[in-house]
Amino acid sequence: MTAAALAPIAPASGIRLEIAIAAIPDDERVWVPQAKGVWFRPLLLNTVSGGWCNLLRVRRAGVLSRHRHPMLVVGYVIRGRWKYVEHDWTAEEGSFVFEPPGEVHTLTVPDDCPEMITFFNIQGAMIYVDDQNRQTGYEDVFTKIDMCRTHYRDNGLGASYVDAFIR
Ligand SMILES: [Fe+2]
Repeated sequence: MTAAALAPIAPASGIRLEIAIAAIPDDERVWVPQAKGVWFRPLLLNTVSGGWCNLLRVRRAGVLSRHRHPMLVVGYVIRGRWKYVEHDWTAEEGSFVFEPPGEVHTLTVPDDCPEMITFFNIQGAMIYVDDQNRQTGYEDVFTKIDMCRTHYRDNGLGASYVDAFIR
């Protein structure tokens, strides 16, 4: 080993701030409405590689969305349960889920589940499709930021509240 190889490995200067927060917030206003009975709570809005981490909270049963992922998604179920119509497994409280890029699936919550909360790490985008697989919409980190900004501006937290989650 040369002296150069043993040089100390120092933290880089100018790096982004870390984030360490209670994932489930005390303040209900932090939850951003997404649809009737559906909210998300931003945790990390990644504008560099494109993607986001959030909690998805659902308080209604039935079909929530049909969508395709162009990139990796992983999730961890914190509360309740849900399933994809296309698969025979159910994501239960405590389950880890990997959703492969390229898959199209239809998210549903069973009738007897009053609330589900799942952590999702979503890379790239969500591409929403109808039952014929025609695109009906999309979300990326920038549409998520816009939704948060509008919601926090209107509920008194302030538009800049979202900045704490943007990297
Ligand atoms: Fe998905």
